[in-house]
Amino acid sequence: MSATFDFTDKQVFIFGGTSGINLGIARCFASAGARVAVASRSQDKVDAAVAELEQLGAQADGYSLDVRDTDAVEAALAAQAEKAGALDVLVSGAAGNFPALAHKMSPNAFKSVVDIDLLGSFHVLRAAFPHLKKPGASVINISAPQAFIAMPLQSHVCAAKAGVDMLTRTLALEWGALGIRVNSIAPGPIDDTEGMARLAPNEAAREACRKTVPMQRFGAASEIGEAAMFLSSDAAAYVSGVVLPVDGGWAVAGAGSAALAASLMPNM
Ligand code: HXC
Ligand code: NAP
Repeated sequence: MSATFDFTDKQVFIFGGTSGINLGIARCFASAGARVAVASRSQDKVDAAVAELEQLGAQADGYSLDVRDTDAVEAALAAQAEKAGALDVLVSGAAGNFPALAHKMSPNAFKSVVDIDLLGSFHVLRAAFPHLKKPGASVINISAPQAFIAMPLQSHVCAAKAGVDMLTRTLALEWGALGIRVNSIAPGPIDDTEGMARLAPNEAAREACRKTVPMQRFGAASEIGEAAMFLSSDAAAYVSGVVLPVDGGWAVAGAGSAALAASLMPNM
């Protein structure tokens, strides 16, 4: 974990913070001294995440909720504000994904991902607004390369995450004068995550994916946590409305051209 950032006396709330990338972000903030709240559907995952964050020495709180339930989101944020005051950092990272062709997907399948990723982010940001520190709060939406690179089997995620990034840009505009910064992080393929397990379910698929990353490796959840801390630190005090890819160059190259580069430069 990083020793570079100090979030002592700061408060962070991470929606979807109980596993994978978002738990990695929670671990980073907890290790840097922050009080951290996490929320997701499974009470077991919430309890395990809180216990792990407490083991890191942080004060931690957990809420079992679905981001599609606006009342539950509002209630959790109000309860946390009652306990710990205004939020310094809000991370909206709850998401769902499964590989499916658009013409074979049911309308409800497409809707379920849009409801969780895009509408869920709107619910979280809208409900958090009264509780964000003004000035000074940092809001981070967890996006994906699918927001700007079309991918087969991902029409629902591409549409939802593109919407999330426009929400980032719009709210950076609306909230900028209040001293609230709003940014997205677009992680590349991150190892040991549910997302990668679903999109690259076997070794051959993992290897093919790894080769499309210009840096030729998967990322770690802690590397997304480092980026989240950077965006929430004074070092990024004038950074708002950006979509920051943290992806070993994946987004710059696009999957196709990175694979082409690898084939043209086999001995590099
Ligand atoms: C086709 C599917 C499907 C599949 C579900 N559905 N899985 N359709 N292929 N594999 C359909 C169902 O049939 C149903 O439609 C509709 O989707 C809703 O399904 P439910 O199971 O009722 O939904 P729910 O219980 O709300 O679960 C939401 C979920 C689920 C998204 C479907 O997978 C989930 O909870 N995911 C959370 C964890 C996750 O996905 N983590 C990875 C995030 S990674 P019908 O018509 O039958 O009612 C990520 C980006 C990764 O976001 C990027 C990597 C580079
Ligand atoms: P993950 O472990 O499944 O993380 C998703 C989190 O959101 C879990 O804590 C999950 O917990 C929660 N969640 C899901 N649906 C929810 C809902 N309706 N309401 C509340 N919480 C909900 O998957 P991950 O791969 O680490 O993905 C984390 C984030 O990174 C997502 O935003 C994803 O789009 C993004 N991302 C991932 C990758 C990657 O390589 N994995 C790449 C780019 C972007 P519960 O099941 O308890 O609800």
